[in-house]
Amino acid sequence: MRYDVLTIFPGFFNGILQHGLLKRASARGRVDIRIHDLRDYTDDRHRTVDDRPFGGGPGMVLKPEPIFRAVEALRQDAGEQDFPVILLSPQGRLFNQELAEQLTRHPRIALICGRYEGVDERVAEHLATDELSIGDYVLSGGELAAAVLMEVTTRLLPGVLGNEDSLARESFADSTAGPLRFAALDWPHYTRPADFRGLRVPEVLLSGDHQRIREWRERQALLKASKRRPELLVRTEASAIPLAAASLSGGH
Ligand code: ADE
Repeated sequence: MRYDVLTIFPGFFNGILQHGLLKRASARGRVDIRIHDLRDYTDDRHRTVDDRPFGGGPGMVLKPEPIFRAVEALRQDAGEQDFPVILLSPQGRLFNQELAEQLTRHPRIALICGRYEGVDERVAEHLATDELSIGDYVLSGGELAAAVLMEVTTRLLPGVLGNEDSLARESFADSTAGPLRFAALDWPHYTRPADFRGLRVPEVLLSGDHQRIREWRERQALLKASKRRPELLVRTEASAIPLAAASLSGGH
């Protein structure tokens, strides 16, 4: 899977590309992550990427020209191949595990990182094929959001985790085909020692009875979800189909 990231802070991505999952997936050739500096698509001496908002108000707005030029260069390079162009912004629809799974069906996606007070609306209206938010809070830019999206989608790709089984049962996995018929939170995990300062690991996990262990884990996951995130249970029971149907378009 290839990601093209458009940003005015290309250096931001150095850390996440040199550590952990994204580094490993790149080294194995599972992903190809290309970071593009939007200033390379400006045509003035100062490499201007932003300007004051029409109508007044505080802050600066990212200009449309460099973003359009950068995406057009990618499209030209891709030839016939269409790909989603995703604007990361707090105004987007909420990114989640299901959307991540849908994204992995595309061999290539472009991510536009918003900045400052906003991005010229013509980018969202006429260039991006989708606008996604990673949560109901405001970051100062889309870079962290793009990093989150890449991490979440990359770990779903075959051969990245090296343990497909752990994907099938983890929190938020679409487990309609698995033992839990809804997207649940994960169950509690324990490791040695069995007794840590008097805090004992639940006996069932030491029993060696795999049937009992499975039932205990499923019950714990359900309990935790119903206490902390009841909307997850309601959401998946009621709307698994509409959510699946809200697939990302493959381009214009
Ligand atoms: N840019 C700023 N806040 C954001 C958010 N919550 N999600 C995606 N991009 C953002």
